[in-house]
Amino acid sequence: MGRILTPFIDDLLARVDIVEVVERRVPLKRAGREWTACCPFHDERTPSFYVSPQKQFFHCFGCGAHGSAIRFLMDYEHLEFQDAVEDLASSMGLVVPREGGPTASHDNHAPLFELLETATRRYQQALNDHPQAQAYCERRGLDTDTLQRFRIGWAPPGWDFLYQALGRDATRVQQMEQAGLLAMGEQGRRYDRFRERLMFPILDRRGRVIAFGGRIIAGDGPKYLNSPETPLFHKGRQLFGLWQVRQQAAKVEHLIVVEGYMDAIALHQHGLPQAVATLGTATTPEHAELLFRTAADVYYCFDGDRAGRAAAWKALEATLPRLRDGRQAHFLFLPDGEDPDSMIRAEGSAGFTERLEQATPLSRYFFDTLAEGVAVDSLDGRARLAERARPLLAKLPDGAFRDLMVQELEQRTGVRVVAATAKSAPMRKTGTFQHPTRGRISLVRKAIERVLARPALAQDHPPPYRFVGLRQPGVPLLIELLQLAHDHPALHTGAVLEHFAGREEAVALHKLAAKIDSDQEDFDYQAELDDALHQLDRQADAARLAALRLRLAENPLSADERQELQELLQAKPVQ
Ligand code: GTP
Ligand code: MN
Repeated sequence: MGRILTPFIDDLLARVDIVEVVERRVPLKRAGREWTACCPFHDERTPSFYVSPQKQFFHCFGCGAHGSAIRFLMDYEHLEFQDAVEDLASSMGLVVPREGGPTASHDNHAPLFELLETATRRYQQALNDHPQAQAYCERRGLDTDTLQRFRIGWAPPGWDFLYQALGRDATRVQQMEQAGLLAMGEQGRRYDRFRERLMFPILDRRGRVIAFGGRIIAGDGPKYLNSPETPLFHKGRQLFGLWQVRQQAAKVEHLIVVEGYMDAIALHQHGLPQAVATLGTATTPEHAELLFRTAADVYYCFDGDRAGRAAAWKALEATLPRLRDGRQAHFLFLPDGEDPDSMIRAEGSAGFTERLEQATPLSRYFFDTLAEGVAVDSLDGRARLAERARPLLAKLPDGAFRDLMVQELEQRTGVRVVAATAKSAPMRKTGTFQHPTRGRISLVRKAIERVLARPALAQDHPPPYRFVGLRQPGVPLLIELLQLAHDHPALHTGAVLEHFAGREEAVALHKLAAKIDSDQEDFDYQAELDDALHQLDRQADAARLAALRLRLAENPLSADERQELQELLQAKPVQ
């Protein structure tokens, strides 16, 4: 899909009013210059969710959710970025322009979707005509309803079932290849990728088929064959069964993540239609985000063996950065030799639900695993535990959960870890906002905050910036912000943040944006920004002057340098 062009996103955010976007879904009450409500992203009785018309930004002081109108739609409607943009645009009567021209994007992929849909139907029909495959399904306990809900089919033997049916001309063949339906032989001969396999279509968030998994039912060969990565299919970002989960309930309270297609299907069939499966890959951070955007509680269900434990730890690592308040992860390990499929058949949904209720919360799994093989009754051991936990805890977003985890670590180790992992850590990690002294807010950060609060003020500060050479953390970011806001006079806070979406700096910027005081007057911001930039200029001058003096002590200066020195001396910078 063609990337959405950034200027369009600016334009879109300039036109929509976040208050309206939110209000349509969550009733808002006025609170001074802002609007407020009980947060839709976590349970609460008293409102801590605020929407600022000025900043075009929402923020919850309870769970830390925040962002622009786009982000709100993503979180509230469980949409991907591109879909949220499409939705907002269409509500404004706009068409989303994309890289590669007006007809790029969806339209380019339409033939691929169509081919995959047709293939799915052919496979479904073929299953009806194939008693042996039907018998296999029966043996695995798949009922008719399940076969239909998951659109399970059969790829017949031979090399050209789909090829004959769909590959009418060169264009079609090329599209089939793009859709991952064909494989290529040695002399460039193309043939059906899937043969003699039970076919599991993989659906995207809109229910369109984007790929297949195919299981062998007899003979040799790899047990499963999956579609390759295609323009439509990236396995690290897809979850098998998620569409079916969303179909059966408007609001999903919890999700169960399992490893196998058959596991997810069995859970659905036996009364737990909240199951999804990763597609033969480790859980990725994209998976975690997708999961939490659907449900606040996620249960990872793994085999109790070594491989299962390793997979669970991977899932934990992918999950930590996404665990803002209100989201919870749990880990369920099955007894040796069992998988979710066999387990639910043996114990039914009641038995399985009981296991889910007793699942290990992430916090306990975290500390128990880290403490494995560490002698926590010794000083060294506790120090070691603290060392292991520290970088992982730093991945957690700010919030009550993180504070509790830090407290827990301190209790277990007696080591004070606040300094390393408390609120300043993510900023530290980006290297953007290191403060020379704790507690003192740097000038650079102050300036960044002011530009973020009132991007329009950058009009008074056109490039170039004298402090560009100042070697302080955050200077490049400040300059980027000033230039961006200067070049795009209409940007408000929310739109500026979208420019940094996906970048490392985004986290820190979002936090700063959340702290902006809406009641402060424009002229305060203006005065403060002018002042901060002026001081930075003077610091830069002072640094330059010091450098020139140092050089002068060793060598004669060039004519240019002499002139610069004279100018600097006349400007009388501080010190
Ligand atoms: P059954 O064995 O039929 O019960 O299937 P399952 O879904 O329970 O599979 P299993 O637990 O053995 O494996 C879990 C997942 O790993 C599968 O659903 C596949 O996504 C993936 N997988 C397993 N075997 C293979 C293989 O041979 N090749 C590939 N590419 N993936 C596999
Ligand atoms: Mn299985």
